[in-house]
Amino acid sequence: MYLLVLLLSTLLLYPLSEGPQTPTLIVVPSGGQVYAEETVILVCELPGQLGLNWQFYWHKDRQDTGAVKWALGSAQGVAAYTLQRASGKHTGQYWCRAGKGQPVFYTQYSQAVSVNVTEIFTAVTLLASPSTVIKEGAAFNLTCEALLTKQSHVLSDPDQNVTTMVVTFTFMRNGWPVLTNSVSGLYSVAHANTCHTGTYRCVARSGKAKRTSHDVTITLDTLSLTLVAIFGTILILFVGPVAFILRKSILIWRAAVPH
Ligand SMILES: *[C@@H]1O[C@H](CO)[C@@H](O)[C@H](O)[C@H]1NC(C)=O
Ligand SMILES: *[C@@H]1O[C@H](CO)[C@@H](O)[C@H](O)[C@H]1NC(C)=O
Ligand SMILES: *[C@@H]1O[C@H](CO)[C@@H](O)[C@H](O)[C@H]1NC(C)=O
Repeated sequence: MYLLVLLLSTLLLYPLSEGPQTPTLIVVPSGGQVYAEETVILVCELPGQLGLNWQFYWHKDRQDTGAVKWALGSAQGVAAYTLQRASGKHTGQYWCRAGKGQPVFYTQYSQAVSVNVTEIFTAVTLLASPSTVIKEGAAFNLTCEALLTKQSHVLSDPDQNVTTMVVTFTFMRNGWPVLTNSVSGLYSVAHANTCHTGTYRCVARSGKAKRTSHDVTITLDTLSLTLVAIFGTILILFVGPVAFILRKSILIWRAAVPH
């Protein structure tokens, strides 16, 4: 009798139609290998679970800390967790589980899936030639160099074959683009003037991935102008009073000379 009650209550609490209590976690793209800025989708599914009552919890790297995200399931007992623009911090292992009721009844954890986000660019460098201090009217070049990750070619996306990977460069001066979608990575100025001074940076792009260089400040060599300015100041500050004193002493001298 006792056994029968136990069996009945078990059937009522966990009806057979609910099926297995272990969700399945899949990652898209499969393998979880993506470049930075690409999208990764984790899909957690409880097979045979109809109804909107389930909430889905995602755990990253450890199961014993709080869920990194949770969401309501769909009517099909499925929920998705989208990493819209993947970055290095998303690399790791993920699990999901579902829960419902109060207090929460949790399912088992799913199996683990891995996400591995690779940066395309290891470094992006902006170089000024011949120097960051340019003589007025002289030519100068800014060159943007992108260093690509060695592993790029082993990644799963066949469209992003490393030999066909197109990298384009945008040059910014004081935050405004001065050259966009350059394939050569060269920004050339034939005759420098004050318009060309400022803080430059370049942005390398490949697909959705991008990386920005450090800042390079271009100034004009205004040594000669400075000399003129200093000389002018000396003239006003020093020669002026001297002339005044001279004039005064001449007047005094004149006054002192008996008529
Ligand atoms: C991520 O992928 C790269 C390139 O395939 C590999 O070198 C690295 O070991 C992987 N990292 C992890 C945590 O799986
Ligand atoms: C700028 O680059 C062009 C093309 O590489 C080169 O011919 C020129 O000499 C460079 N000018 C300077 C100032 O470096
Ligand atoms: C990469 O692209 C080049 C040129 O389109 C092709 O010859 C090569 O076989 C490709 N490599 C891989 C691994 O797909």
